[in-house]
Amino acid sequence: MLEKAQDPRYATISRPAPHAIDLLGKMMEERPQPIVAEVGVGVGATSAELCRRLDGAGQIHFFDYGERITDLLADLQGLGFSNIHGHANSRRFLDSYAWTLGKLVLERRAANAGNAAMFDFIFFDGAHAYHHDASSTVLLKELLRPGGVLLMDDYDWSFAKSPTMRQNSNPPLEKLFTDEQIETCHVKFICDLFLDNDPAYQRLDIGYTPPHEHRRAYRKAG
Ligand SMILES: C[S@@+](CC[C@H](N)C(=O)[O-])C[C@H]1O[C@@H](n2cnc3c(N)ncnc32)[C@H](O)[C@@H]1O
Repeated sequence: MLEKAQDPRYATISRPAPHAIDLLGKMMEERPQPIVAEVGVGVGATSAELCRRLDGAGQIHFFDYGERITDLLADLQGLGFSNIHGHANSRRFLDSYAWTLGKLVLERRAANAGNAAMFDFIFFDGAHAYHHDASSTVLLKELLRPGGVLLMDDYDWSFAKSPTMRQNSNPPLEKLFTDEQIETCHVKFICDLFLDNDPAYQRLDIGYTPPHEHRRAYRKAG
């Protein structure tokens, strides 16, 4: 899978997300053995770089469709990384990591006297669609340990802004969403709803100057 980063068709996801690498580096100064999650792996550009940054320390968990997870884990094992875990979901139309994360929260609560927290750093970069990502955000907040950092990607992305989604969505976007939902930045909507008003989540300055803001990061109190 990692070779796809050289394929022009994957140009938009061919380079590691720099904020994810920087924030993990800062987290490792405080917590040298962090437990990390990347939700939505693409062609593994950021995944591979996160593994290189960890350099065998801690653990990293990946969430995506089954075949992407299988290919990614094989490639990362080939590069010598063993601190990696995959969480796969099906290609059924309404399936996603949201369901996987729900099961993980229940498993963690059952195993740890109601406390699901396990991740020190989470990079959330999946569908950027409210129907998967709203519930996932609520679950990821519970899976984040006190003092942990959550990085939300594509804060400024919308279906309307994406030529790929406009051309390739099957069913067409107009069958799936209202005009308002096509125009709205779903990740921003989710941050407005579940993160910006939560006193336990403090915004981190990651260098954006309004109105340009592609990613938003939060630290959980504790
Ligand atoms: C923008 S890419 C992630 C890029 C990656 N984080 C990086 O930095 O290179 C979005 C990912 O979300 C995944 N995704 C989107 N909808 C999904 C769903 N319903 N279930 C599982 N994964 C999904 C896609 O398969 C894709 O790998």
